[in-house]
Amino acid sequence: MKMSRQRIVAGNWKMNKTYEEGRALVKDIVGQLQPSEILVVLCPPFLHLNSISGQIKDVRSLKLGAQNCHQEGAGAYTGEVSAAMLQSVGVEYVILGHSERREYFGETDELIAKKIDATLKEGLRPIYCCGEKLDVREAGGHLDLVAAQIKTALFHLSAADFEKVVIAYEPVWAIGTGKTATSQQAQEMHVHIRSLIASKYDQQVAGLTSILYGGSCNPSNAKELFSQPDVDGGLIGGASLKAGDFVAIVNSF
Ligand code: 13P
Repeated sequence: MKMSRQRIVAGNWKMNKTYEEGRALVKDIVGQLQPSEILVVLCPPFLHLNSISGQIKDVRSLKLGAQNCHQEGAGAYTGEVSAAMLQSVGVEYVILGHSERREYFGETDELIAKKIDATLKEGLRPIYCCGEKLDVREAGGHLDLVAAQIKTALFHLSAADFEKVVIAYEPVWAIGTGKTATSQQAQEMHVHIRSLIASKYDQQVAGLTSILYGGSCNPSNAKELFSQPDVDGGLIGGASLKAGDFVAIVNSF
């Protein structure tokens, strides 16, 4: 079943790279990336999207993603960016529900559900992030917590809409800490997520959903993580800021 799912490596630059640094990074990635069936999604800050869209337009395996969008279509929301604006510069994916948005910007799964709807309405594909904090894992509550996140943010969707969603499991304790989940921990959670999807929708929808792992993924551990049957790729933070490391992760399949 794994082979029929889209394998994806997405780079979440977070709040890094000036305009010129961003262009240079993309130039290096384009230069090093070999043609393959792996979909590579670059998710820079909003500022970069329009220019990077031009830089990657002829590279079939490279797609553009944003790191957030507003839930409303337009209006008096100072400082915000809508899904339609993203779509208008060639964005195809939007990271939603990242743990940093939850932690520092108070985003809840109820709000994230609205953002999911806003992106789908514009034909964009959400990359929905879920994952537990360390205390929840230590108390053994990680499977239930991730199930609750997914139910609240995603299970109002029709099967047709759900099929456009990519899921990223990012245990909060593994993000930016150098402490990666073991491949067994990732696989266990990914199987759990897939079975939840199967019970809400069906086996086919579950089998076709790409589920990525994120959290201190790097060129040394990517191969082991990606070898797990239910790990369909990665959402990469720190290691996506260096072309050599990022491309090495893409080549880890
Ligand atoms: P790191 O790869 O830096 O741990 O970040 C992961 C992440 O948050 C990607 O969205």
